[in-house]
Amino acid sequence: MSSGLVNIAYLIAASLFIFGLKGLSHPRTAVRGNQLGALGMLLAIVITLLDQNIIGYEIIIAGVVIGGAIGVILAVRIQMTAMPELVALFNGFGGLASILVAGAALLEVSVLKGTAGAIALNAQFSISTFASGLIGAVTFWGSLVAFGKLQGKVNDGAVRYPFDQAVKIILAIIILIFGYLMVVNPDSSIPYWVMIVLASVLGILFVIPIGGADMPVVVALLNSFSGLAAAAAGFVLFNSVLIVAGTLVGASGIILTIIMCKAMNRSLTNVLFGTFTVTEGGPSADEVYGGKVKSTSAEEVAMLLEGAKRVCIVPGYGMAVAQAQHAVRELFDLLEGNGTTVEFGVHPVAGRMPGHMNVLLAEADIPYERLKDMDEINPNFKQIDVTIIIGANDVVNPVARTDPDSPIAGMPILDVDYSKTVIVIKRSLSPGFAGIPNPLFAADNALMFFGDGKKAVEDMVKCLKEEIG
Ligand code: TAP
Repeated sequence: MSSGLVNIAYLIAASLFIFGLKGLSHPRTAVRGNQLGALGMLLAIVITLLDQNIIGYEIIIAGVVIGGAIGVILAVRIQMTAMPELVALFNGFGGLASILVAGAALLEVSVLKGTAGAIALNAQFSISTFASGLIGAVTFWGSLVAFGKLQGKVNDGAVRYPFDQAVKIILAIIILIFGYLMVVNPDSSIPYWVMIVLASVLGILFVIPIGGADMPVVVALLNSFSGLAAAAAGFVLFNSVLIVAGTLVGASGIILTIIMCKAMNRSLTNVLFGTFTVTEGGPSADEVYGGKVKSTSAEEVAMLLEGAKRVCIVPGYGMAVAQAQHAVRELFDLLEGNGTTVEFGVHPVAGRMPGHMNVLLAEADIPYERLKDMDEINPNFKQIDVTIIIGANDVVNPVARTDPDSPIAGMPILDVDYSKTVIVIKRSLSPGFAGIPNPLFAADNALMFFGDGKKAVEDMVKCLKEEIG
């Protein structure tokens, strides 16, 4: 194929990625955005396949079948609540692919050396091979550790070892020395593979000290790294679409990481080099709850809802665990049918991954315009008659506003406690992700509805139907 045609096709593919990403920024255009991105990727793959003449199609098809089968099995078997683990694995595989692509390019150079098709051995080639391998190895091993921590298979605490920062700095310097050896001796692949081993150790040491609680942020950062590794691999292969796609993933991953840190009121440095520890001090659960918690029933909640003009539903991690979103949709329909205005207060870090609640509510066909983000809904809580919290805890914990020593101090929260009545659905008084008691549960205007999220909402629907008649 002529290189002009290939470049035009790549330009179209890259534009489709960009329009696809733009579409993904709003729920209404997200499906179309996804399709545009997929179309761009299809075009890029087809053109790349037509433009290559080195390996047979049998090997490519075998790779697609094996990779596709692994992807399908993982995606089908994974629980919705284990999505961050799956994303961690996908990032890791992206990093591994970059190591192998750069390694294969080095191999190709030594095999084709001196022939017409040989890649030019210049500093750009060596530096991009080094970058692709280094970032790929850190991403691969870092992602495997993140996966293990999220699954509870690797110590999910913040594991400290002596001189941890110094060890990482020394390792990074040795890696740079091997990078230099790659540039001055581009013929040899030995410095590359030694560097990969060292970078793998660095990847493990980078993630091991970070507590399991911060893993979703780390996964977003590693996602960004996997994009940068792919962009470097694009320079190795002189493939412009890989450079553009990798850079887009790198940039969007880092933007997401920053958004997550902001929503948790943490700095990235604090996540990576500090520790998020469950507080030992602070009031105990007994002090916060002792004799002050009032429990309620489906019948009582149905009576409250029957007379409510404005209701806000706040979903949290427990809604995902209980898979209560379809029951929530039924409740939404019933309330709206009874003349009640229902809105959803969605906190940016509710659940365990970015957009977790939006995905679940969209799955249940809740109209997008009813999903209100924190800044939009917070000024309205004083006018809301009943707020129903389904499996949320930290994102509605008022100590974030009042206790500067709390681990969630300063984290912006949904001001649900300002609404007239608050119903909290959860199974017990157990803490959420941050591991601290929540005084909201003992507030005068709060009623606890203990039970599994899905069952509790289904019971409420049943009683409300009887109430409305
Ligand atoms: P959490 O504070 O983790 O609280 C979830 C609550 O759900 C728990 O207290 C639990 O109480 C309840 N629950 C669990 N299973 C349930 C079920 N089957 N039915 C009903 N309730 C159930 O959740 P949140 O309010 O969504 O806050 C998210 C937390 O995760 C924040 O601290 C945030 O910083 C952190 N985080 C989020 C992200 C992203 S990107 N979303 C990333 C990293 C960290 P019971 O056991 O008593 O039922």
